[in-house]
Amino acid sequence: MTTLADKNVLLGVTGGIAAYKTPELVRRLRDAGASVRVVMTPGAQAFISPLTLQAVSGHRVHADLLDAEAEAGMGHIELARWADELVIAPATAHAIARLAHGFADDLLATLVLATEARIWVAPAMNRVMWASRPVLDNCQRLQTLGMRLLGPASGSQACGEVGEGRMLEPDEIVAALGDHPRPFLGHRFVVTAGPTHEALDPVRFLGNRSSGRMGFAVAEALAAAGADVDLVAGPVNLTTPPGVTRCDVLTARDMHREVMARIEGATGFIGVAAVADYRPDSVAEHKIKKSEGELALRLVPNPDILADVARHSARPALVMGFAAETRDLANAARDKLARKQLDLIAANLVGEGLAFDCADNALEVFSATGHWSLPEQPKAPLARALVEIMVDCMASKGG
Ligand SMILES: Cc1cc2nc3c(=O)[nH]c(=O)nc-3n(C[C@H](O)[C@H](O)[C@H](O)COP(=O)(O)O)c2cc1C
Repeated sequence: MTTLADKNVLLGVTGGIAAYKTPELVRRLRDAGASVRVVMTPGAQAFISPLTLQAVSGHRVHADLLDAEAEAGMGHIELARWADELVIAPATAHAIARLAHGFADDLLATLVLATEARIWVAPAMNRVMWASRPVLDNCQRLQTLGMRLLGPASGSQACGEVGEGRMLEPDEIVAALGDHPRPFLGHRFVVTAGPTHEALDPVRFLGNRSSGRMGFAVAEALAAAGADVDLVAGPVNLTTPPGVTRCDVLTARDMHREVMARIEGATGFIGVAAVADYRPDSVAEHKIKKSEGELALRLVPNPDILADVARHSARPALVMGFAAETRDLANAARDKLARKQLDLIAANLVGEGLAFDCADNALEVFSATGHWSLPEQPKAPLARALVEIMVDCMASKGG
């Protein structure tokens, strides 16, 4: 059970449809022991009444910046000082844009600038809005400003569509705020994610269907477990999880170089990326023209990042790989575990709507002596389960 005892939580509600979930969120926060005060944007008040949030929080709702009566009571600076945690849920695309650019023309935006509390932002919007470049850029900026993103989740949306952009459920938000064990505090992990692109000519490449979501979820779960995380990411369209340092690369050779530059002193290496095994032996200087006959490609092997990390003189204590297989999962995974001298391998079947570019996944995890079956579930809880296995594996090595 999450505890927020003695925490002052200021909840900022903005004008999205998910505002209807905020009375439940206030109740869950209070159940966890927090004192809760609520700030609403004018837009939020079109979706839910301040009276409802006053009733569930036990305090008058704060809504106006230029309100003489409110300033005479708990003014905006006192409110900013009072908060230990400022949670903006739901956070609309509009609110995210305003926060990313330091606006101070309503109470919530001004509080964000005036507080030293940890700031959490739970985006909630239609999936196409969420995937839009301005929203993704603004979220990236919030993170560089030290704000923590909560979600969003995937699923059915109020607009009738299905996709990424739903606000996290109230209990997930409360759990993210709560104190949780940090078994990897003081440890650094290097994680790879996404595909690699191997150029054929200036416009074409060999790639694969990896979305990077599993690797990003693993990086996020490790950071939540207290680790310093270096994430080396292939070409993906994802925001960097809170507390994670990201380096973007394109090719397997770039990824190999950036991983090797970070491996010394790392406790763990988690190779989630779907790295191309081969690349074209040469990259055409100009676009390859269509011609009548067949076109043969000659491929040469790429460096093997996992095997090189596992053989490195500064080998991390924990080296974990992923195996995407289309058949004979257990044998292929165990073979790769032994051949590449890994501590753990997480294997999944791919193809036919499985794993690649999907929100959910199922994994079979193997060590030399152990086997864990993780049933199909969203990638975030799956990644947290993997981190628990990593903790067990380190403990069994005496690390
Ligand atoms: C019915 C309805 C539902 C909306 N839901 C959302 C939403 O879920 N997310 C979002 O970003 N904007 C949504 N909007 C648009 C926002 O209400 C609008 O951008 C507003 O300016 C947000 O103001 P605020 O962020 O200052 O509260 C919705 C608008 C309407 C009319």
